[in-house]
Amino acid sequence: MTDVLAGPDTPIQELRLVTEVPGPRSRELTARRASAVSSAVGSVLPVFVERAGGGVVVDVDGNSLIDMGSGIAVVSVGNAAPAVVAAVQQQVAAFTHTCFMVTPYEGYVEVCEELARITPGDHAKKSALFNSGAEAVENAVKVARHATGRSAVVVFDHAYHGRTNLTMALTAKNMPYKHGFGPFATEVHRVPMSYPFRDQPGITGAQAAARAIEIIETQVGATNVAAVLIEPIQGEGGFVVPAEGFLPAIADWCRGSGALFVADEIQTGLCRTGDWFACEAEGVVPDLVTTAKGIAGGLPLSGLTGRAELMDAVHTGGLGGTYGGNPVACAAALATIRTMREQDLAGAARAIEATMLPRLRALQERTGVIGDVRGRGAMLAVEIVRPGTTEPDAELTGRIVRACHAQGVIVLTAGTFGNVLRFLPPLVIGQDLLIEALDVLDAAFAAEVPGR
Ligand SMILES: Cc1ncc(COP(=O)(O)O)c(C=O)c1O
Repeated sequence: MTDVLAGPDTPIQELRLVTEVPGPRSRELTARRASAVSSAVGSVLPVFVERAGGGVVVDVDGNSLIDMGSGIAVVSVGNAAPAVVAAVQQQVAAFTHTCFMVTPYEGYVEVCEELARITPGDHAKKSALFNSGAEAVENAVKVARHATGRSAVVVFDHAYHGRTNLTMALTAKNMPYKHGFGPFATEVHRVPMSYPFRDQPGITGAQAAARAIEIIETQVGATNVAAVLIEPIQGEGGFVVPAEGFLPAIADWCRGSGALFVADEIQTGLCRTGDWFACEAEGVVPDLVTTAKGIAGGLPLSGLTGRAELMDAVHTGGLGGTYGGNPVACAAALATIRTMREQDLAGAARAIEATMLPRLRALQERTGVIGDVRGRGAMLAVEIVRPGTTEPDAELTGRIVRACHAQGVIVLTAGTFGNVLRFLPPLVIGQDLLIEALDVLDAAFAAEVPGR
């Protein structure tokens, strides 16, 4: 981690365990939480946080944990990044809220200008800002329907787009996201994803796209489709990277049939995969793109960016919300994007991949329980299976996660079958810390997969 990314309050960048994990103070707070917080809200690792920065999270017991999750791909620029802290402090002292729909402010406009610059394509673009990823996705559907005069939305197997009513319908996985929460929104149509590890062997990206398109044309009707909504690399669905050629073929089909190609880059965007946006890897230019998570260094902000004529198709007042594009979140976003540009955090994501991929592949060779190693940049995963098969092993995945947590490394799972171990380190994580996290991962596999 360079000095520019560390401030006087940044914790020492080290793995340090002074109690078991979670420690006594965290356990006390967990008990308090149980009587005040709905049990419907879960936590991956119940250590209560005191401070965090760079690549570490320091808990209330004084343990310093290595952060391989970034609060689910959010603090890419580092937690409490000094530039973000300074921008937020300055803005919070000036004004905290006016509501852009009442009296506007420059920060909102500047974020939209930045989004026009950094999202794929050099056409005229406009944006609208919201609070959460799900809200940006909902607004993408609103714009697509309004601009095309069509109603159908096509989504993919394993997709995750959020937890609001419309986005639950767009999300694939039942448990825990949808179970018991229906009825869901109509005019949502699901088609097969390109999932190379679980697909027919040898199927190309173009063939997988043709399979999806045939279903769209025969079961939905090309002229009914307002939008095809896709994560260029699926996030919660298990870091599924579609076969090369899949995304361009789907985007081409959209162009030819008047449907909008909407890239949900909420998890993949803002340097996470080694480019500003994951679509860039195959030169795909979406009509609309959603952003959130990494955009504002931990403050809640999301955006919908698209071709200017589409974004202007909606009547004035048709998009918005009380807090959307909050000035403090906008200040944080501007500092975040500036830091990403100045510090080349896309390059940092590629460097993380260069360190991690060989280690993960070696682990695959050694253990025999990793069916697939995949991802791009600092969005990498291993899919855990029973040896010699593609049968998911969620139980072993859980044990490995718990072993990592006990040794002070925060890792997350994902995947329709709960058997994907995913890694989303802050892009500013130091090389030594990253290597230490990989050592802990190796030890966890060695302990949980005996005889290998
Ligand atoms: C691809 C994608 N879309 C949408 C969302 C929803 O974002 P939020 O949780 O901010 O509503 C997520 C969150 O994980 C996501 O990964």
